Amino acid sequence: MEKKSKPPFYVTTPIYYVNGIPHIGHAYTTIIADTLSRFMKMSGREVFFLTGTDEHGQKVEKAAAEHGLDPQVWADRVVARFVDLTKDLACEPDFFIRTTMELHEKGVQKLFLNLLQKGDIYKGEYKGWYCVPDETFLTEDVPQEKDGTKICPDCGRKAQVVSEETYFFRLSAYQQKLLDHYASHPQFVRPQSRMNEVTSFVRGGLKDLSITRTTVKWGIPVPGDPAHTIYVWFDALHNYVTGVGYDRDPALFAKFWPASVQLIAKDILRFHAVFWPAFLMASGFPLPDCVFCHGWWLKDEAKMSKSKGNVLDPYVMLRAMGPDPLRYFLLREVPIGLDGNFSHEAFIRRVNADLANDLGNLVSRALTMIRNYFAGTIPEPGPEEPADADIRKAFEETKARTIAQYESYALNKVLEEIWAFITAVNKYLADNAPWKLHKDPALHPRLARVLRTAAASLRGTAALVAPVIPGSAQKIWEYLGEPGNVRDVCFDGLTFDSPGLGQAVRAPEPLFPRVDLQAFLAEETKPAKEPAMDEQKPMTPEQPAAPAKPLVTYDDFAKMELRVAHVIEAVKVEGAKKLLKLRIDLGTEQRQIVAGVAETYTPEQLLGKKFIVIANLQPAVIRGVESQGMLLAAVAGDKSAIPFFEADVPVGAKVK
Ligand code: MSP
Repeated sequence: MEKKSKPPFYVTTPIYYVNGIPHIGHAYTTIIADTLSRFMKMSGREVFFLTGTDEHGQKVEKAAAEHGLDPQVWADRVVARFVDLTKDLACEPDFFIRTTMELHEKGVQKLFLNLLQKGDIYKGEYKGWYCVPDETFLTEDVPQEKDGTKICPDCGRKAQVVSEETYFFRLSAYQQKLLDHYASHPQFVRPQSRMNEVTSFVRGGLKDLSITRTTVKWGIPVPGDPAHTIYVWFDALHNYVTGVGYDRDPALFAKFWPASVQLIAKDILRFHAVFWPAFLMASGFPLPDCVFCHGWWLKDEAKMSKSKGNVLDPYVMLRAMGPDPLRYFLLREVPIGLDGNFSHEAFIRRVNADLANDLGNLVSRALTMIRNYFAGTIPEPGPEEPADADIRKAFEETKARTIAQYESYALNKVLEEIWAFITAVNKYLADNAPWKLHKDPALHPRLARVLRTAAASLRGTAALVAPVIPGSAQKIWEYLGEPGNVRDVCFDGLTFDSPGLGQAVRAPEPLFPRVDLQAFLAEETKPAKEPAMDEQKPMTPEQPAAPAKPLVTYDDFAKMELRVAHVIEAVKVEGAKKLLKLRIDLGTEQRQIVAGVAETYTPEQLLGKKFIVIANLQPAVIRGVESQGMLLAAVAGDKSAIPFFEADVPVGAKVK
């Protein structure tokens, strides 16, 4: 009954450009969306969670060309990384949309045609300053530099004057309607500071928006006028309707549109809070309840982005400890609207303090005592005393406050609430010292009450925290001997004394092993495959060849694609004295690889050289630079030596 009376919930992330591989910033938005999706499901709401990739436009066209690939081939390759990351973060979207999908392209063409027929789209001539990397025309208020050019205010790069025949969207007609909507829906843009920013931008006046390009080939063709492609933002924003069934699944669309919350970061606020609602009004669709703008993850105080080359690879953390610690850290560390500076030290500190110590130890202590003192099943407890009642009350209050914080998307506060409760339970155990109660059989009913209170607290905690750390919550659930899935708990029915307690608990395994910071940081640099090198020392043979690794079959070996590569560009990686960035030719395509040989070879020494690379190695980000393969080198002591081909071998030839 309860389930049906609640409105459906639809959450979206921006669709990510496939011009580079995903980083912590992308992971962040997807994790917020997944957490909200899981919370709303546990609140008894029907949920649709959409994420995906933005695959058209000049940026992607350019990235593909740089790799010598057709844009679709390039997009197919990169999208796999986004799909994998989504899974590896334990995120479970209901649909992963790609803007190159037919269902999307058709939907966008239909929406375009409708607006053309209505007169909200018309043909004209546009001349203006255009930022190529950002694919956006600069607004009139951007001042001219001394040399007469304009600089893109978002990325700081030079814009170009572009003049072309174009279709315009009649944005000017929506200025007042947008202002009226902001005034009557103060939660439309959150937080409030972003709403103020948007309102004052719109008050400043809106000009009609050029929404087609003749200069960009990689885009959805304008129906009936294929010399034009649809501007990537008009195309991309409509994923939020095509992804949820527009023109394809009317029942799905009717159930979930308008979106409940559209998550974005501040770099794309104007697109989502001005253009997007205007497009929707023009098409006659209701507007989303909320565009929620979160802050940026920074690295060394600068926004993490591909163009700045300071991106952090989420796999450094995922490989070491799975998705939950990263999910926890990103949501706990900064309030959702603010910027946060990412540091591995802060990450490890939190994992050790909050997860391993506070929660992990509580789980293992409580369950170990239940197993040791009562063979795993808590007997009928003695009466509840004030200290026990305080914990019950604390849980009920924590539950109410946690749910309220989830509902207002304040996920760091959710975790503050839950951890305050965990601290209270730890204190309760310390104060009531079950290990002392155990010594006197007369106190065993009291011991049972204390351990039962601890187990009920853990059960409640597992449910409340499940949207954030789903895998660990499920483990706690199972250790407690609870049947089924914690994700199937409905918060409305979650009480402190739920049936189920009293069943046998299982032996817990450490939930979050403590991480040694030094060891972790050493591991972090590992993908660089950087041998420690020192030019002063001569090469010495490696330790005698005891077979350190098991024998492999020929089939194992044949899985590797070894090919001859030719170096066509070589530069140092800034800030990493051991690394070189190489552009290599593989005959069929060009690639970029990062090699830890800068202390033995200068870039000039490698230019024009041919050597062997593993061409089908999973790409990795090394010190913020993407590496799409690995060269083979001998590593002896602290030196490396690359075997170069002396003979004239064809570039790309297979090595067997
Ligand atoms: N393709 C457009 C969005 C179109 S939506 C219709 C785009 N793509 S993007 O790949 O650049 O991703 C932008 C989004 O990724 C941000 O809005 C944010 O959600 C996330 N982030 C990218 N870098 C980020 C940080 N450094 N920090 C936090 N989030 C970041 O813009």
